[in-house]
Amino acid sequence: MNTPFDITGKIALVTGANRGIGKAIVKSLVAHGAKKVYAAVRTLASAQPLVEALGDSVHPLEMDLSKPDTIAAAATVATDVDLVINNAGVLTQTNALSSKVFDNLAYEFDVNVFGLIRVAQAFAPILKANGGGAFAQISSVASIKSFPGIDTYSASKAASYSITQGLRESLKEQGTIVLSVHPGPIATDMAAQAGMLEGTEPPAVVSEGIVAALKAGDVHLFPDALAQQFWDAYKGYAVPMVEG
Ligand SMILES: NC(=O)c1ccc[n+]([C@@H]2O[C@H](COP(=O)([O-])OP(=O)(O)OC[C@H]3O[C@@H](n4cnc5c(N)ncnc54)[C@H](OP(=O)(O)O)[C@@H]3O)[C@@H](O)[C@H]2O)c1
Repeated sequence: MNTPFDITGKIALVTGANRGIGKAIVKSLVAHGAKKVYAAVRTLASAQPLVEALGDSVHPLEMDLSKPDTIAAAATVATDVDLVINNAGVLTQTNALSSKVFDNLAYEFDVNVFGLIRVAQAFAPILKANGGGAFAQISSVASIKSFPGIDTYSASKAASYSITQGLRESLKEQGTIVLSVHPGPIATDMAAQAGMLEGTEPPAVVSEGIVAALKAGDVHLFPDALAQQFWDAYKGYAVPMVEG
């Protein structure tokens, strides 16, 4: 169990906030009473529709997970956050025998794993200074099972899950709770790109799940129906061995 974290009145930062799951997270946070949400995006203009839809509580902030200087710069602006949700991620369709495997593995690790570490390193001191707060990482069901044709993506999501477990231990001392999020197929550009056109669920299933999981003090969130099947099979191991 984590210490329960209620989003009401909190200040949050979401990476990859301009579309897909990230955009839904920003909407859910505002709907559940967040005071301010930094929408961290690669291109500031891409966050404009969110500002128009949700108003002054959304603050666009430039951040590219593969560019450490943009993360450091964002951390000098968003000094008031008590919740960081690292959602941005990339996927290529690459298996281990592909001629592109090393390039694509490096690309996915740079954003999905090194990016997570960069964000955690930049914002851990801020969360500490603001009383602890919470950090959430959007990993995947691919963190616990490699899916055919997306070997390198699955490897990056396994690594992001492992790093998230490490962060949970490291951040415990400063009172920061860590939530590990593992969606199944969600209707976004990424799912379409991976050829997952059927059986997807809306991004709000993830974003509303995050708000509820933080409030409940959950350590893991497997938000959609397919992800729940994974959790049903996995929790007998995860609760005593990972959460315990
Ligand atoms: N959709 C699914 O079925 C599914 C399932 C499990 C987990 N996930 C995970 O959920 C997260 C969100 O995925 P999604 O489906 O919403 O994907 P998406 O629709 O493809 O959106 C990806 C987001 O990440 C941003 N991004 C990409 N590279 C970035 C970088 N270098 N620095 C900062 N931002 C970057 C994109 O910004 P731009 O618009 O600038 O490109 C965009 O905002 C990812 O971590 C993904 O792995 C998705």
